[in-house]
Amino acid sequence: MTTPKSNPRGIIPIAKPLIGADERAAVMQVLESGQLAQGPRVDAFEAAFAAHVGAPYAVAVNSGTAALIVALQARGIGPGDEVITTPFSFIATATSIIACGATPVFVDIDPFDFNLDPALIEDAITDNTKAVMPVHLYGNPARLGELRTTCDDFELELIEDAAQAHGAVHQDQPIGATGTACFSFYPTKNMTTGEGGIITTDDAEFAARCRIIRNHGQGERYLHTMFGLNWRMQDINAAIGLVQLEHVDEWTERRIANATQLSRLLTHVETPRIREGNRHVFHQYTVRVSHDRERLQDALKAAGVGSAVHYPIPLHQQPILQEMGFGEGSFPVAEAAADSVLSLPVHPSLTEDEIGYIAETVNRLTS
Ligand SMILES: Cc1ncc(COP(=O)(O)O)c(C=O)c1O
Repeated sequence: MTTPKSNPRGIIPIAKPLIGADERAAVMQVLESGQLAQGPRVDAFEAAFAAHVGAPYAVAVNSGTAALIVALQARGIGPGDEVITTPFSFIATATSIIACGATPVFVDIDPFDFNLDPALIEDAITDNTKAVMPVHLYGNPARLGELRTTCDDFELELIEDAAQAHGAVHQDQPIGATGTACFSFYPTKNMTTGEGGIITTDDAEFAARCRIIRNHGQGERYLHTMFGLNWRMQDINAAIGLVQLEHVDEWTERRIANATQLSRLLTHVETPRIREGNRHVFHQYTVRVSHDRERLQDALKAAGVGSAVHYPIPLHQQPILQEMGFGEGSFPVAEAAADSVLSLPVHPSLTEDEIGYIAETVNRLTS
């Protein structure tokens, strides 16, 4: 590893939320309207987001985690049930299942794209299995066709953790257009509402159940027919989301163009892989490195290039989940991924010059 060249432009951040004058004006309008909780802007945002992904229904909530919990509950997942999912994700994938009283059951990932390996699902199915929850990790679609077939064969629910996958496409079909998908609008996501999340679906009855659950389980005022809590999105957040929706397609195109350029320029790391017919929206641009990753990150930082590890500890090895009894070696592909992945800046504000600098710096430090 050679001595890093310092970047006179300061650090290139790993993520950069884009908030402009229109978002500020939209928030001011909400504040002036006096309608601070869920109101007409949430309705408008749900309609706009549903139209954007091509889903008949969308139910907005106050985080991506809330979207997963509400969707699981509305699909009837509860105590005693098992949900098959990936060990290589953000913690909310597993804790949302636990929040419903159910048990996450991990199966290993596909080394090609870090997503749930459909070939391993059948062996994990028991009499208690009720659902499968794939994650479209980094914005790269999981193998939904095979997962749907298994779910149909075994009468399981398929609930997609699409927290990172706004605008992603699986075999010509936008993620969220059919089935049940849960998106996050956390500030670093491809579009944001501040905090926020949304469930998209083509199932009217399921959407109605989600609406009841997100509002204390009340279908009518003060009549509580289901267990629910306050998972509602605020109008302030929806107002930001409505503006962001106008830009997300252009931002996504830029992310894809930045990723394409990085993959063309990087010479000594394994670049992301995409299945034919899919659209990866590069919430993260994540490479595999065979170097001392911590040293490499320090050297990148010194050279002005931000980086991050998504994720350094697989879910089954997290202290909160270790009581399930999984040891090292339980999911070797996920463990190897956790040891080798490194995310580089790919966000839409990067200039061509910065992309060249990121690639040149990574190449120099890994050669
Ligand atoms: C894969 C995945 N699932 C779930 C979540 C939870 O979303 P939120 O942070 O909006 O609750 C996130 C967001 O960080 C995520 O990346």
